[in-house]
Amino acid sequence: MSDLTTIREEVLPSLTKAATLAELEELRVAVLGKKGRLTELMKSLGAMSPEERKSFGQELNVLKEEITAAFTERKSFLEAEAINERLKNETIDVTLPPRPFVQGRIHPVSQVTEELLAIFSQMGFKLAEGPDIEDDWHNFEALNFPKSHPARQMQATFFMKDGGGDILRTHTSPVQVRTMESQDLPIRIVAPGRTYRCDYDMTHTPMFHQIEGLVIDKSTNMGHLKGCLIDVFKAFFEVDDVPVRFRPSFFPFTEPSAEMDIGCSRENGEFKIAKGKGWMEVLGCGMVHPNVLKASGINPDEYQGFAFGFGIDRMAMLKYGIPDLRTFFEGDIRRLKHYGFIPLDIPAMNIGLSLNGGIKR
Ligand code: DAH
Repeated sequence: MSDLTTIREEVLPSLTKAATLAELEELRVAVLGKKGRLTELMKSLGAMSPEERKSFGQELNVLKEEITAAFTERKSFLEAEAINERLKNETIDVTLPPRPFVQGRIHPVSQVTEELLAIFSQMGFKLAEGPDIEDDWHNFEALNFPKSHPARQMQATFFMKDGGGDILRTHTSPVQVRTMESQDLPIRIVAPGRTYRCDYDMTHTPMFHQIEGLVIDKSTNMGHLKGCLIDVFKAFFEVDDVPVRFRPSFFPFTEPSAEMDIGCSRENGEFKIAKGKGWMEVLGCGMVHPNVLKASGINPDEYQGFAFGFGIDRMAMLKYGIPDLRTFFEGDIRRLKHYGFIPLDIPAMNIGLSLNGGIKR
């Protein structure tokens, strides 16, 4: 009898005080487990007289029920508490802005491609694409490079090993032909992409990037070409004025052909847009040659237009002061960290191409 009172007085308060589910379980085992205090007392029932057994047995059962009830109550309390604690800790505050300095970086070539596309798309140009592995027709023949023309040699072409005559495109100009072959007139497209030539030094890599432009309609002329390119370069370098000059040149696929230079200074190795300091060649352009129109299924007596093409990597080097082209393609994460751009800052004409016209790091 007194045993039961002791157990009741000791166990019930400690059950209600148990701080964790593990502690509670320990207490339960100590009383109700195989060798628990109550279990031991149950075992003693066998040795008792029937009267003793009846009354002691009843009291034992009452206590057992009390303890079990107290245990169950505490258990559900502790379980609820654990869930609430988890809910509190694992809550996501969706009103918090994302961390501003995410780990990944956008490669300068991707950045500059996006910047150029933002400019051209605002001017009404659509995006066009063509394959990296080209055939002779699209890369040369339709672009008015006759078979033995010396301009072919100047392109340091990579030929596919199978001898089928396919090549890695040496420029993005074949996309002009593909677009004229497949799209309705008038045409106004830009085609950025990878190009390949067997060349390697500070300013040349075997794989590089170009962007091609093509406008074809009934009246587009050389004046439109100049105005368009001047606007593009002003927007790209994020300045109000870019000194430019057009020099006569030769490309088989344009007539007349020109190269465009921009006025710039290079002091202490730093490139700046500037008047009267010097010139740098940035692109080739011209009026699409009638032979190219014909080869692409367009009547040159009815339609005309201009084309241009330039190196994207070169533009990235100039705008963001990156001295060695080869480092673009080495995949060194440290360089990407230094010269890369924050992914969420997407270039757009209405908010600025690059943050404050400067470099984002
Ligand atoms: N495809 C030429 C090159 O890679 C660049 C070029 C020049 C493209 C004149 C043109 C153009 O569209 O009209 O050197």
